[in-house]
Amino acid sequence: MSKKPIILGIETSCDETAASIISENNQGIPIILSNIVSSQVEVHKEFGGVVPELAARAHINKIDWIVQKAIDDSGIKKEAIDAVASTAGPGLIVCLSVGLSFGKSFASAMSIPFISVNHLEGHALSPKLNSKLDYPYLLLLISGGHSQYLSVGGIGSYKRLGTTIDDALGEAFDKTAKLLGIEFPGGPQIEVLAKKGDPNRYQLPKPIFNKGGCNLSFAGLKTAVLKISKNIKKEQDKFDIAASFQKTILDIMYKKTKNAFDEYEKNNKLENKIFVVAGGVAANKEIRTMLENLCSENEYKHIFPPINLCGDNAAMIAMVGLEKFKMKKFNDLDYPAKPRWSLDENAAYLKGAGVKL
Ligand code: KG4
Ligand code: ZN
Repeated sequence: MSKKPIILGIETSCDETAASIISENNQGIPIILSNIVSSQVEVHKEFGGVVPELAARAHINKIDWIVQKAIDDSGIKKEAIDAVASTAGPGLIVCLSVGLSFGKSFASAMSIPFISVNHLEGHALSPKLNSKLDYPYLLLLISGGHSQYLSVGGIGSYKRLGTTIDDALGEAFDKTAKLLGIEFPGGPQIEVLAKKGDPNRYQLPKPIFNKGGCNLSFAGLKTAVLKISKNIKKEQDKFDIAASFQKTILDIMYKKTKNAFDEYEKNNKLENKIFVVAGGVAANKEIRTMLENLCSENEYKHIFPPINLCGDNAAMIAMVGLEKFKMKKFNDLDYPAKPRWSLDENAAYLKGAGVKL
């Protein structure tokens, strides 16, 4: 029996310092041997958002220890690692540089291949860590920095069908939370508050609902929430805003995902229709349930990562590393950090005033 590859993944693109070791079993199913994520919430809390220099300093302080812990927890010796995969972009350049440099040094010291990974490709492949998932599939990537529908054909093969023309979905959740006085990062708290509120109390706008295919827009919601948040008198008002906001998001995502299905089917001859949802916002249970129902109505098989692999982690980076390792897609040690790095390099830039849909 040949030795199964063992991959070290490293992630430092934003405010999580993470390292993970994965391998696979004899059936080729990935196994997570360790998965360490250290969040910097406490570092950034008082500033209401991520401060790049502080984030980079926190990564530098912790990266050694986090990687060592990932190795210790995995039960393997560092000499058994076959390759190192580090996030090279997109993200904050000062943060990316930490994990990238560490990964390159580790690979060089151990004389093993180095693999650069696109963080978004990590999210795209994250469901493979616990589900059998074959290409092609339709992906909805919803995180704090990105919101996109992509047709995924394989490693490095992405066609963008739709994207946000302003804020990302996670950003809309975070900004709404901030207006309700919830501490950073407040996105997940909206889901909690919404449970106690009346989703029909406030009518919020649904930007580009009836145009723009499966492109998305959320900036108008923030402005509307800003207006009504000025009249908050009691806790119940906050609950009602959170519930109304989340219901509006559900309506938008239902319609836009239906549009994405149509677009995807137009361009692909499909025997199996598979829909994957990944990224931090995929942890929202209301959004998951709505999308599961939509999949049943449209004969799509839905595959979501487990909740603990929706947010940023290094197991998903190691997952891309594992697939690239098997394809012998290695990178040189002068591979640069890429703060902007699209999955579909041919897709048009769709942000800013005057954008044509
Ligand atoms: O993928 P991720 O961890 O980091 C990025 O790559 O951006 O996503 C973080 C985003 C944040 O905006 C956070 O508020 C949002 O995911 N998020 C949620 C929930 N959990 C995390 N948004 C809505 N509901 C949730 N339960
Ligand atoms: Zn992410």
